[in-house]
Amino acid sequence: MITVMGATGRTGSRICHTLLEAGVPVRALGRSAERLAPLAAAGAQIAVGEPNDAAFLSEAFRGVEAVYTLLAYGPDTEDYRRQQAAQGEAITQAIGHSGVRNVVFLSSVGAEVSSGTGPIISMHDQEQRLRAVPADVNILMLRAGALFENLYGALEIVRAYGCYSDAVAADVPVPMVASADVADAAARALLDRDWRGVQVRELLGQRDVSYAEATRLLGAAIGLPDLPYIQVSAEELTGALLQAGYTPSIAGCYAELAEAINSGRVRAQEQRSARNTTATSLEEFSQTWAASYAALG
Ligand SMILES: NC(=O)c1ccc[n+]([C@@H]2O[C@H](COP(=O)([O-])OP(=O)(O)OC[C@H]3O[C@@H](n4cnc5c(N)ncnc54)[C@H](OP(=O)(O)O)[C@@H]3O)[C@@H](O)[C@H]2O)c1
Repeated sequence: MITVMGATGRTGSRICHTLLEAGVPVRALGRSAERLAPLAAAGAQIAVGEPNDAAFLSEAFRGVEAVYTLLAYGPDTEDYRRQQAAQGEAITQAIGHSGVRNVVFLSSVGAEVSSGTGPIISMHDQEQRLRAVPADVNILMLRAGALFENLYGALEIVRAYGCYSDAVAADVPVPMVASADVADAAARALLDRDWRGVQVRELLGQRDVSYAEATRLLGAAIGLPDLPYIQVSAEELTGALLQAGYTPSIAGCYAELAEAINSGRVRAQEQRSARNTTATSLEEFSQTWAASYAALG
């Protein structure tokens, strides 16, 4: 059996289905039995609890071959670093208490940097915690690039203003990756368990894409091939996010991340290779994005 955290989410749900299709029993974790019900119907054992509850996680990690872990948050998270630390500490304690021997952690490009990386800082912190667990636990840190799905944040902006804007500079190449490809890499690792000790693997997407190019591709998919990308300042981004209902903690993280991407503080460490390059192109994702845009009406 394999335990999957964040099982109702983008990577977690796909991992659960892939494992079940491979005939591997799955224990799917989430905060709501109702949201987990489709996974139960697909054959998963479900376990309902909070991701910062070490006792709940210890039980959920006990007796399984491997666990998939991540640090979840939302736009309403009040104190990002504290909320993430609570989950990270609970996960680390649960690894120790449960005796599980194989752990995959969804981390991020840039997690090697110890400050000034916005939301990525919590993944840096968690990588440090995981490096301190007993040496007989095999830990795989999968450092994903920016998820394509972040671009769903562009939907309302494009509709309201006829452009996309963010504080990332227009022409900086960014490794962007489909969450489905991240999930598939994680599922493969959970099934194969082909690593020993602590390993880091980056997942860099099909190719690097700048925000200007991403905007052109999204625009082309909705019949607006000249959709402009407009870089705003970090302060302007923060203001817009606060207005959209994000907490100051999360808005501040995103502004800091944009600056970290622009300065090169957050960037891939590995050379591109078959292992860190994934299949789905932003052109393909743009079609899915366009369907969501059409659904806005
Ligand atoms: N966005 C990026 O570009 C990027 C890049 C690299 C790494 N990452 C990492 O990837 C993670 C996201 O992975 P994902 O897309 O698979 O996850 P996700 O779909 O965003 O969320 C996974 C699950 O977390 C639970 N959740 C949502 N908000 C929560 C909250 N405030 N507190 C506790 N649980 C909450 C939800 O499950 P229930 O409500 O059912 O419990 C949700 O289904 C990020 O958190 C980050 O650590 C992201």
